[in-house]
Amino acid sequence: MVDTLMLGTSTSCSPPLALAPMVGLSHSALRILILEIGGIGLFFSEMLSVTRLPIENETVSPFLCRTPVESPFIYQIFAGPDQDIVPAVERLHQLDAQGIDLNLGCPAPAVRKLGAGSFMGLTEVRSMVRCLRAATSLPISAKIRLGKTLDKDVLLTFCRMLEDEGVDLLTVHARLQGEKFCRKPRWEWIGKVKNAVKVPVIANGGIFCVEDAAKCLERSGADGLMVGRGAVCRPWLFADIAKNIYNFDIDTGINIKDVYFRFIELLDARFLPERRLGRLKQFTHYYSSNFTFGHHFATGVQNSKSIKEAKVVAEEFFDKIKGGSDD
Ligand SMILES: Cc1cc2nc3c(=O)[nH]c(=O)nc-3n(C[C@H](O)[C@H](O)[C@H](O)COP(=O)(O)O)c2cc1C
Repeated sequence: MVDTLMLGTSTSCSPPLALAPMVGLSHSALRILILEIGGIGLFFSEMLSVTRLPIENETVSPFLCRTPVESPFIYQIFAGPDQDIVPAVERLHQLDAQGIDLNLGCPAPAVRKLGAGSFMGLTEVRSMVRCLRAATSLPISAKIRLGKTLDKDVLLTFCRMLEDEGVDLLTVHARLQGEKFCRKPRWEWIGKVKNAVKVPVIANGGIFCVEDAAKCLERSGADGLMVGRGAVCRPWLFADIAKNIYNFDIDTGINIKDVYFRFIELLDARFLPERRLGRLKQFTHYYSSNFTFGHHFATGVQNSKSIKEAKVVAEEFFDKIKGGSDD
């Protein structure tokens, strides 16, 4: 098992484990939390609109704020076929990007409205990648799904086109375009991509524990893993995978209450006051899945009007489970 993934020729990601781009979740507070626990090798930003990127102020923008330790770092962009991506790319050069990712798989409404991502045809994607390749010497990555329908030839033609146009890294989310996140991922289809291209392939979708990670690697033969929701539920999952699969010498002992309160501290440190509560609610939605009666916790935080109120809810919840009432 290779424990390093090369991003271009000069950036190494070790272990080859990446935090997925997730709107409202893949931000500086979560990244630092994960870094403090350990086991992460690569970060992706949440998807960024190419029209907003050039005008966002990175010192206050919740989408762009980032500290130097949050590296290696790939910014993910999304754009419609008629949009000019060059100003956004120039901005990313100023932000010390280690790579730029094209969102080609996400079916989110903002993406669909623009006809971007997986809603673009092969020819449109080709010209966008060409334009991106001409605009940057940074490593380019592309995040895709398996396609509109399960069709090996279409999928591999698409991936080979990306490689021919200069994409340096492919991340494959093992679901079809219209499939919900609860559907079982088709990790073996990532293996078909892996066998067809020379660039590194990262596998994504449905990794929530070390066993999932091991199975995904076995079935896909991928060069690395990208974890999304599983890393929000358990920010220590990267450390667990790094230790158990890549043999990293990492202390994986955590305190589940301390991790939650550290996350709140980091939200306070990294975001303007009005940007904190929504992000805490979104995080808690996933984090609460660690507990049998976590939905009470999630609802309590959801109904809170301030971080202070949410902290009281959390204190009470963690006190209760300490007393053994979470079963
Ligand atoms: C709340 C949320 C927001 C997401 N935002 C993005 C995004 O901005 N760009 C993207 O390519 N994928 C996005 N995704 C998809 C994830 O990157 C990932 O492909 C998906 O969650 C499957 O991985 P997982 O099973 O490890 O969560 C998002 C997923 C979630 C749950």
